[in-house]
Amino acid sequence: MPVRALWWDRGALALLDQRELPGRTVVRRLRSAAQVADAIRRMVVRGAPAIGVAGAYGMALAARSGPKDPARAAELLGSTRPTAVDLFVGIDAVRSAWAAGEDPLEAAHRYRERVVEQCHRIGTAGAPLLARAHGVLTHCNAGALATVEWGTALAPIRVAHDRGAELFVFVDETRPLLQGARLTAWELARERIPHAVIADNAAGHYLRTGAVDAVIVGADRIARNGDFANKIGTYEKAVVAHENRVPFYVAAPWTTFDRQRSSGATIPVEERSGDEVLELAGRRLAPPASRARNPAFDVTPAKYVTAFVTPDGVVRPRELATRLRRRTPG
Ligand code: MRU
Repeated sequence: MPVRALWWDRGALALLDQRELPGRTVVRRLRSAAQVADAIRRMVVRGAPAIGVAGAYGMALAARSGPKDPARAAELLGSTRPTAVDLFVGIDAVRSAWAAGEDPLEAAHRYRERVVEQCHRIGTAGAPLLARAHGVLTHCNAGALATVEWGTALAPIRVAHDRGAELFVFVDETRPLLQGARLTAWELARERIPHAVIADNAAGHYLRTGAVDAVIVGADRIARNGDFANKIGTYEKAVVAHENRVPFYVAAPWTTFDRQRSSGATIPVEERSGDEVLELAGRRLAPPASRARNPAFDVTPAKYVTAFVTPDGVVRPRELATRLRRRTPG
């Protein structure tokens, strides 16, 4: 069975609780926008495209059970996580349908379909880039769990693997919440794609010694000039890949491109609770007197990106602004 992060189930939004994976498969059924907002904030559902779809269904739930005011519902859902632009795109897709008198639930279904279909096309567009790679590094989880189905960075890996490429995936564990070790490894293991989880600190070693010959990651927000935000640690991997002349690809649906933003300088970076750094699986690691800093994302300048893998093909950073002008939003 393919992995699905969320689905609509008899009047409720069903979410696979990603905090419990890989140990337990727990499904949460949410019936209100407030519950969806809470689930996004607590990262029951996570990953930019997936929280966009959850936000869209949150709006549809608001239309049924309140707040029956589109602006208030959008404010509630949009106040959860600031960095991924997809969240706001998903909320707005349903808000405008609702304002136009259309069925908000139908609009949420359409938004989900659009994201799934775009991620599918990312797989086909990106697979040729990996056809001759042996070691591929990825960071965080940009798989089906982060996008509803298929994934962004994992979609080309899946398609290349299915076509017979002999890929080995290096999976950054991705501290502090371990999306790589827990979620990416879970997805790859289910599909028997050869991989190893590595400590975040080991990526530079494998890039320098030639074991990794391509890097592919997802994104949470991509500015018009190609600067992009992604999980904390992405910037370091991009710099080290550049230093070692290893191609660095960023895979994303059009919902992740923020055409209002000219560069990465003003992308909001979410700061999460220091407890996520100070504790591991509920156990305190650091001395009681220590505090932590916990930016959840960083911004990587476009000069480190070899190419973006979009649903409509591979786009070089210098071509991006023109492509975005030509394409209708979403
Ligand atoms: O904090 P998270 O787990 O929501 O962060 C997710 C990421 O940074 C992903 O790499 C990004 O959303 C791309 S997912 C297709």
